[in-house]
Amino acid sequence: MIDFKEQVVKLIEGEVDSLTRDEINALIEIPPSYDMGDYAFPVFRLAKTFRKAPNIIAEDLASKFKQDEYFEKVENAGPYVNFFIDKKKLTQTVLEEILEEKDGFGSSTIGNGKKVIVEFSSPNIAKPFHIGHIRTTVIGNSLYKIYKFLGYDTIAINHLGDYGTQFGMLISAFKKWGDREVIEENPIKELLKLYVRFNSEAEEDESLRDEARYWFKELEDGNEEAKELWQWIRDISLKEFSKVYDMLGISFDSYAGESFYSDKMPAVIEEMEKKGILKDSEGASIVDLDQYGMPPALIKKSDGSTLYTTRDITAAIYRKNHYDFYKNIYVVASQQNLHFKAWMKVIELMGYDWAKDCIHVPFGMVSLEDGTLSTRKGRVVFLEDVLNTAIENTAKIIEDRNPNLPNKEEVAKQVGIGAIIFQELFNQRIKDYVFNWDRTLSFEGETGPYCQYTYARSNSLLEKGGFNIEDEYSIELLNSEDEINVIRLLYKFPNVVLEACEKNEPYLITRHIVEIAKSFNKFYSSTPIIIEDEDLKKARLKLVYATKTVIKNGLGLLGMEAPKKM
Ligand code: ARG
Repeated sequence: MIDFKEQVVKLIEGEVDSLTRDEINALIEIPPSYDMGDYAFPVFRLAKTFRKAPNIIAEDLASKFKQDEYFEKVENAGPYVNFFIDKKKLTQTVLEEILEEKDGFGSSTIGNGKKVIVEFSSPNIAKPFHIGHIRTTVIGNSLYKIYKFLGYDTIAINHLGDYGTQFGMLISAFKKWGDREVIEENPIKELLKLYVRFNSEAEEDESLRDEARYWFKELEDGNEEAKELWQWIRDISLKEFSKVYDMLGISFDSYAGESFYSDKMPAVIEEMEKKGILKDSEGASIVDLDQYGMPPALIKKSDGSTLYTTRDITAAIYRKNHYDFYKNIYVVASQQNLHFKAWMKVIELMGYDWAKDCIHVPFGMVSLEDGTLSTRKGRVVFLEDVLNTAIENTAKIIEDRNPNLPNKEEVAKQVGIGAIIFQELFNQRIKDYVFNWDRTLSFEGETGPYCQYTYARSNSLLEKGGFNIEDEYSIELLNSEDEINVIRLLYKFPNVVLEACEKNEPYLITRHIVEIAKSFNKFYSSTPIIIEDEDLKKARLKLVYATKTVIKNGLGLLGMEAPKKM
């Protein structure tokens, strides 16, 4: 595809010696509306060398570029030189590229040969997989897809919370009150009950805590009974989580969770000792982070047992050795900011320069309108239930709007779950948001169903119009403002994907798909498409095809399906 911005840089570079190519590139702006051009170059930085008023410099520059094959117009508005892309060239390059690349449109090879780990979801086993987990799961999956699309060799890791003192509790609790059959019927709910009971009885009886610690230590030391129980709890929990992953269409390349590192920690602790960064603190081993303004990182407790931090440090070192990653990304809530800052500092202090390639991608909180998310109230909203409710509600809406739709159940699933994903990825990660059922499932406004519906509508237009991808068409017939506006957005898609990757922000893609859908629907309502005039129809159908292709690619990067009919 023609890189028009690159053309702007070239033009300016030819006239201006005092700025480098990169400087020019960085100065170019995208004006707020198209009537001010597609690109604008502010000339303030040139005032010194040209010794003229900015307005005059801009006017002079613009007059030099009047005739150009890529821009139909170049003119100054005050101190800005505004560039208007040649619409025919734009249309041609965009449509050619989309028709050629199809589901690869927007992809790239920039990541080739580079390994990126995206660690996400990572729930604690034997605990409910609740709505709070949706964020890491959905954001992480989208980032995974985005990196992959850009050519990175991408690895999805689920760093299961399958280790730690809570397993000591579970083992003790199970030995006292547990019943295998009951638990297998309803694993997470029953294990949670055990966990809650253990904690409440431990409030009365302190010795229970010692018992839990004892059993965790036994587990770490390889006690057979403890290991067998732990393995069983892990298996049944993972089976439960998999239901949700299947519904969301998510899979992982590795489930190496915390326990995976249990036999790898001693060597790492020894290494820290050798490197002289471990300190003794009342029998425990710590890394002092005082001079970095952080509390000490606790590496080993006085009873010899390890911690969450120890496992993260060990996991990072393992990943570097095993995968030799280019980037090692952690999609984890912002509540853990300090934890990540601290252990990454420890990696740095161990002398590993790749500490800078470990990236924590934090996000804010999700809450429900009625406050049901607060676990303190003791009510847990299971993610599986939320997804099922979304599917049921969508099925009702479909029944209402389009009762004869074939494949209704499948579509309800794609749309219901898609709606949740879309809502989740609609805002900047770091913002907290309130989950709202009506907004999420609405077919109008900036929602998943709205975008999916636009996709489905395009498909039915193509079908009705007898679209054939091989058909010749004349680009100059696509010249109305509504058509060009759609094309402009399609043109930007690859850059939006790149930016989403650079910033680890899928919402940039979500918003862009909404813009495309809106702009397409404006075109659709102003412009008859299935018409007598064959040439015009063919040209417009090409645009419909291009639009639906980009919407589908975008939804795919969010982890959403695009039903053909809905
Ligand atoms: N299991 C943890 C939790 O549920 C999240 C793990 C995040 N990843 C990590 N490498 N520490 O809070």
